[in-house]
Amino acid sequence: MNLISINDLTEDDIYEIFKIADKLKEEKEEIELKKDSILVLYFEKPSTRTRLSFESAIIKLGGHSVYLQKDTTHIVRGESLEDTVRVISLYADFLAARVFNHNDLLRMADVATIPIINALSDLEHPTQALTDLYTIREIKHKLEDLKIAFIGDIATNTANSLMVGAAKLGAEVSLIGPKGYNPNSLYLNKAREFNRVDVYDDIKEGLMDADVVYTDTFVSMGQESEREERLKRFMPYQLNQDALSYAKDDVIVMHCLPAHRGEEIAADVIDGPHSVVWQQAKNKELIARAILLFLSARE
Ligand code: CP
Ligand code: NVA
Repeated sequence: MNLISINDLTEDDIYEIFKIADKLKEEKEEIELKKDSILVLYFEKPSTRTRLSFESAIIKLGGHSVYLQKDTTHIVRGESLEDTVRVISLYADFLAARVFNHNDLLRMADVATIPIINALSDLEHPTQALTDLYTIREIKHKLEDLKIAFIGDIATNTANSLMVGAAKLGAEVSLIGPKGYNPNSLYLNKAREFNRVDVYDDIKEGLMDADVVYTDTFVSMGQESEREERLKRFMPYQLNQDALSYAKDDVIVMHCLPAHRGEEIAADVIDGPHSVVWQQAKNKELIARAILLFLSARE
């Protein structure tokens, strides 16, 4: 089984991953993978958290990690992605890949004999969404009937995975971004199969009574050349104290990180009392372990 899209997981699968994470957190019994399991991380883009959390996770489960930056492989000299993944499958037990083009993950899955994990693509960040939902559940003790608001770049990878995952688990989703800037319709329609998802350009309406407010960078990896244009477009949707004032008093503020204080989020919000971003970041490693255990049990 692969984890390429949040759509690969049923509601039961997501709760199974949470159950494994809860068990790992209790630390009552030693839980390990098959001895000397190897996780290859094939990354085309930078990463601090996802790389580190998966490398730490496999080590804690008794395995090993190998980091392969695309530029150091023969892909840059013309070897095909398919042949590269065929070879990785001969040595490793899991492949976590961070790619520009989501379709490359599907090409990998076509030839791989080991689970492929999406460590971020242009379209999705499913391991992040699982971490986010687990963190929300940990703090709010439920997901059903919560209002989860995503403000800013509502068409980014993190928004796509989170909206589907949150709606699947019964949360109401609110997406707030500039007029004429639409969420990805495939993910929006998929999320709406599960629950209510509303799109707003009015910050007050969109954030009113939110239990969770989430944001992500205005300039994702690969969009650097559009930086000025994107900042101009999204700055009115900065998550600042004014915006936050419409949410519930016990709102939690989330961000996948890396954060850009003064751009998508004000410093006094990310560093303020409602922010749970460090708990969220810490949970990435726990969820990485849970994902590896979940996928290995499905092999
Ligand atoms: N949140 C996240 O995926 O961070 P990295 O880009 O550092 O992995
Ligand atoms: N949307 C961001 C997420 C970073 C973890 C990006 O793709 O750069």
